Amino acid sequence: MKAAITAVAHWVPPTVYDNHWFEQRIETTDEWIRTRTGIRERRFLGEGGVTDILLPAAQKTLERRGIGPEDVDVIIVATVTGDRIFPSSAAILQRKLGAKNAWGFDLGGACSGFLYALSTGASLIESGAARRVLVCGGDKMSAILNFDDRATCVLFGDGGGCVLLEPGEDDGFGVLDSVLKMDGNGEPFLHQKAGGSLQPPTVETVQNRLHYVYQEGQTVFKSAVKGMADVSYEIMQRNSLTADDVAWLIPHQANLRIIDATAERMGLSKDKVMINIDRYGNTTAGTIPICLSELYEQGRIGRGDNLVLASFGAGYTWGAILVKWSLERTT
Ligand code: UT7
Repeated sequence: MKAAITAVAHWVPPTVYDNHWFEQRIETTDEWIRTRTGIRERRFLGEGGVTDILLPAAQKTLERRGIGPEDVDVIIVATVTGDRIFPSSAAILQRKLGAKNAWGFDLGGACSGFLYALSTGASLIESGAARRVLVCGGDKMSAILNFDDRATCVLFGDGGGCVLLEPGEDDGFGVLDSVLKMDGNGEPFLHQKAGGSLQPPTVETVQNRLHYVYQEGQTVFKSAVKGMADVSYEIMQRNSLTADDVAWLIPHQANLRIIDATAERMGLSKDKVMINIDRYGNTTAGTIPICLSELYEQGRIGRGDNLVLASFGAGYTWGAILVKWSLERTT
C-alpha cells in the first residue's frame, strides 16, 4: 500500500519585505539580490512562533479533506525554528489544532526537512502504524537571521505548509519513491553556532551574535548544485522516467541558479519547474509544501501527474521524492 497526499495547504505571513527594504538598511541592491538569488520579496511574521505559521496551514489542510483535528493520528513538524527547544512544535501544534488523538514529533532536516518528513510519514502509512499523518514543514527564519549580515539576511523568509497522508486506494499513486542523502561533513559551512547543548546561550554568545544562521554561501552553492541535480536525475533513472514523463519539478527554493541547474540535468523545460522564490525567498522546510499548495490551488497539477520534489540544505541533507499526484485538478 502506498501513502497518498489527500490534502495540501500553506500559509505565509501577510507582511511583505521587498529588496528595497534591505537597501535602506544594509550595503546591498535589489539588482544583486535578484540576479544572484532570484528573490524579489519575502514575508516576515513578527510576533509569534513557527506553530503560528503552521496552525492556519494545518487547519486549511484538514478543512480541504473534510475531516476534524481529532481524526489525525500523527503530526510531524519539519523545522529548524521550533517555538521552543522543547516541547516539540508538534506537541504545541497538536494542542492548538485540537488534534487530541495524535502523537508526533519534530524533525530537524533543515531545507530537506519536509522531504525527510514526507518519507517518514509515508512509511508510517505503508506499515499500517497510522492512517492519517499530517506532515508539516515550515520555518520562522526571521527568528535566526542577523539583519546586519548581508550575505544571509536577504536570502530567507517565513512560511510553511502541510500535507495529509492517507492509505492510497490505488498503489500506482502517492509517494512512490524516495532517494534521501546526508553528509555531516557539511556542518562547518551552514549552521547556527550557539543555542544548542554544545554552546548553550550565554551573554557572550548573544553579544557575539552566535545565534544566527551562519553560511559560507559559495561552498554550499557548489554542493547544492551537484547534490540536488544528482538526486533528481537518480530518481528519474531508477523509475525509468524521461523528461516527458515528469509533469513538475518542485524544488527547494534557495537559489534560482541551483534550481535551473537541476532542471537542466533532468532535461526539463522551464515551464515544468515550480518557482516562487521571487515572492517568498527561502523558507527552509516551508518551500516545498508552499510550492505544492500553490500549484494545487492554481489548478496546475492534476491526477496522474508525476512530481519530483527535490531539496538540498544544512547537514548536508538532500534528496528527491517521486509523487504520483492523486487529487483531481482544481478549476
Ligand atoms: O537553503 C539552504 C542551502 N543554501 C543554499 O543553497 C545557498 C547556496 N548559496 C547561494 O545561494 C549563493 O552562494 C549566495 C546567494 C548565498 C551568494 O551568491 P554568490 O554568487 O555565491 O556570492 P558570493 O558569496 O561569492 O559573494 C560575491 C560578492 C562578495 O563580494 P566580493 O567579496 O566579491 O567583493 C560578497 O561580499 O557579493 C557580496 N555580497 C553581496 N553584495 C550585495 C554578498 N551578499 C551580498 C548582498 N548584496 N546581499
